[in-house]
Amino acid sequence: MDKIIIEGGVPLKGNIEVSGAKNAALPILAATLLTEEKCIIKNVPVLRDVMTMLRILRSLGVKTQMVGNKVIVEPKKCKSYIADYKFVSTMRASICVLGPLLAKKKQAKVSMPGGCIIGQRPVDLHIKGLRALGAKIKVEHGYIDARAKQLRGANIFLGGAYGSSVLATSNVLMSACLAKGKTLIENAACEPEIVDLANFLIKMGAKIQGQGTPLIIIEGVKKLNGATHTVIPDRIEAGTFILAAIITGGDLIIEKARADHLSALFDKLKQVGVSITVRGDTIHAKRKAAVLKPVDITTLPYPGFPTDMQAQMMALASISDGISVLTEKIFPDRFMHVSELNRMGAGIFLEGASAIVKGVKRLSGAPVMASDLRASAALILAGLVAKGKTEISRIYHLDRGYEKIEEKLQKVGAKIKRVKE
Ligand code: UD1
Repeated sequence: MDKIIIEGGVPLKGNIEVSGAKNAALPILAATLLTEEKCIIKNVPVLRDVMTMLRILRSLGVKTQMVGNKVIVEPKKCKSYIADYKFVSTMRASICVLGPLLAKKKQAKVSMPGGCIIGQRPVDLHIKGLRALGAKIKVEHGYIDARAKQLRGANIFLGGAYGSSVLATSNVLMSACLAKGKTLIENAACEPEIVDLANFLIKMGAKIQGQGTPLIIIEGVKKLNGATHTVIPDRIEAGTFILAAIITGGDLIIEKARADHLSALFDKLKQVGVSITVRGDTIHAKRKAAVLKPVDITTLPYPGFPTDMQAQMMALASISDGISVLTEKIFPDRFMHVSELNRMGAGIFLEGASAIVKGVKRLSGAPVMASDLRASAALILAGLVAKGKTEISRIYHLDRGYEKIEEKLQKVGAKIKRVKE
């Protein structure tokens, strides 16, 4: 198993490029199951989760080819409708093949994803949405077994205890494209990745309105065609690089980014004392003052502050001058990084679904363990600013969501390397 070693204390300087968004690429790849024609998806990040999705597509009989960041999908020979436990257990996002398989194959059998380290991961909204479209769904032997001779448009309120759901919206949106009649998804997720998926579906011939708002309206069509699409930039990777510039007191030009997807982060960074300049698709991030101010954050569905940036923001808050409160309203147990940051000298304690972060003057390098994808990113940020050496083990989580992160950070001056354990 690989680990990452960082020698902290180097301010990062230079230009760094953002890859395509993992969370847009995964449902878009799944959406190719809705057609029999060839699809070309560009700007797909080379990540473990993307490889898992391609393996699932191949296990269903789909032909896939990845050349650099371009994926060519030929779904014509998709024969199976079963997404096996061995894939779904390694990547929860595998659930997004459920909707397209059901709509195209009239049946789908997808392993229940189960929980994960960041907490419970229920699928009730996926099931509720597809049932509303007329699917008969049984959950047995660890699988969601869905069938429908013909899906029918419906009015669906897709809200749960924690608000909207990104992948449930994706699943219902994809199925509704081939349903008979009109579907209204109320309380739909508004994340940019949903907009990107809808834009791809529209290129395939789907009739969709309202993507990016809580009301999506879909007029079902009989058939979808192949399409070519370029995936949007990854806003979480861009946000992580912005924080890397700030935490190290550096100066980074983040290229190929979408600043308009990062408003909640920018708003909070203004309070911290940071200079952010946007020009076209580049974001220039640097620290304004020697000392960072504390910040209070509550994670919320988009356009609120993203839960996928909470851990990285906590790394930043841990060296600010004062007390910050970070409250998690999407995944209340998503705090596995707290004890690892504390091992590096941070002063964080948990109070329910909030982390109280008492800023310290400096973090010190230590051996730490990554527990999940965004926690790994937080530990990298902490390692970049800590005094001395930080060794991060279990970094396979990182490879699920950050393309060539150590190479990208090395180019802007970070003393970071990957070694075999
Ligand atoms: C997606 C993202 C993930 C991000 C999350 C929240 C992908 C591949 N992953 O995950 O990176 O952290 O959105 O922005 O896009 N919920 C239910 N019932 C359901 C489904 C979800 O109660 O059927 C709850 C969840 O437990 C959570 C909240 O809804 O509390 C939001 O989760 P959801 O948006 O579904 O997350 P994912 O789509 O799985």
